[in-house]
Amino acid sequence: MSDAKWNGIAKSLRVNSNVASPSRKRYVITRYQRRRAFGGDQTEASEKCLPTEDVVEVWVSELSAPVYSAGITGFYAHPMLHHLFLRAAPRTLAYREAIFLHAKDSVVLDLGCGTGILSIFAAQAGARLIFALEESSAIDVAEEMFAANGCAERVETLRGRSTSVVPPERADLIVFELFGDDPFDHNVLAYVADAKRRMLAPGGRLMPNRIEVFAVGIDDSEGPSTADRWIEEARGFGERYGVDFSAHVAMLEANRRVIDASRVASARETYADRVRTDAGKLWDVQFETDDLGASVKERRRAILRFARDGVVDSILIWFRLHLDERISITTSPYLDRTSWGWHVQRLAGGPRFGKAGDALALDAHIEEVDGRDHLRVTAGE
Ligand SMILES: C[S@@+](CC[C@H](N)C(=O)[O-])C[C@H]1O[C@@H](n2cnc3c(N)ncnc32)[C@H](O)[C@@H]1O
Repeated sequence: MSDAKWNGIAKSLRVNSNVASPSRKRYVITRYQRRRAFGGDQTEASEKCLPTEDVVEVWVSELSAPVYSAGITGFYAHPMLHHLFLRAAPRTLAYREAIFLHAKDSVVLDLGCGTGILSIFAAQAGARLIFALEESSAIDVAEEMFAANGCAERVETLRGRSTSVVPPERADLIVFELFGDDPFDHNVLAYVADAKRRMLAPGGRLMPNRIEVFAVGIDDSEGPSTADRWIEEARGFGERYGVDFSAHVAMLEANRRVIDASRVASARETYADRVRTDAGKLWDVQFETDDLGASVKERRRAILRFARDGVVDSILIWFRLHLDERISITTSPYLDRTSWGWHVQRLAGGPRFGKAGDALALDAHIEEVDGRDHLRVTAGE
């Protein structure tokens, strides 16, 4: 399809034509064809009844190997993901509270601004000047958000990856939310180290200023995987809708690995009932004062104690972000799922059986693979 035709279709459906992966194009074109066949209202009504296909199509395709391995940019380019961040009210409101305490009269850099929400909070808090830096096309939405919220004059957008951007002046406050379920795998350490060196004014503040990373042993053995659950659900669609869904089921089956690995889809809603040990702290990183280079990636050790007799077959990683000295956000497994899930790593060598009080020694380090940091855990004796 020509670019002109694609742009025309995207415009008529009021969707962003810049986000044009093959799966997204297919989805938008299908919507367009349905609208032409059935008329606008009916199409919209029928689409409201079909959120699952929409979500499955976009998530599974967007996260499939070629796009995902192309890097974080492709992943974040999808505006739908930003909906998940915004929907996480404790996360977003905690940032707002902290920004309101520290942004007044300041120059603020919003590192990875996404839809621009944190920049808007900074403007509302009375920041003098804001740099909204973003590498994905979410920045197009952000620019419209700044205009609609009356702060475009105080916000300057900077497009590109932070490491290749030079802001016109240093910031008193750098705000960032660059954390994955594995808190390090969006390369937060490297990006913050670079921003701290080149973009922060002397005596400036980083928000968050600290991350604590913890591990607990869990028994994740019972129950089906996410892919199993989706496939089971999809088998039920046939009866529910009176439509043959075997192609959809086959598509899910072919994408089992992607569904189970996907950060948006894989985590359970809660792990509270699966925790079997106490928590061990692996990292306590002070972003402002610590060296965020090689030393932070070195081996850490924690001893976990079985809380009662039982089995541990996986390690769950969670974290606490300190936005300032007072306000923090946690992904504790005892709380409901947030916009983050949990990084769960199965123990190599199979499950460990323990009695209450028994020790499970953990080693952890951060390993760089293809330019991305990954947290690795191994369990000793
Ligand atoms: C988790 S989202 C947070 C978005 C927004 N700040 C919020 O709180 O809703 C992280 C954003 O940072 C962007 N990003 C990640 N690393 C970046 C980098 N090094 N330079 C520019 N943008 C980056 C991503 O594209 C993504 O939009």
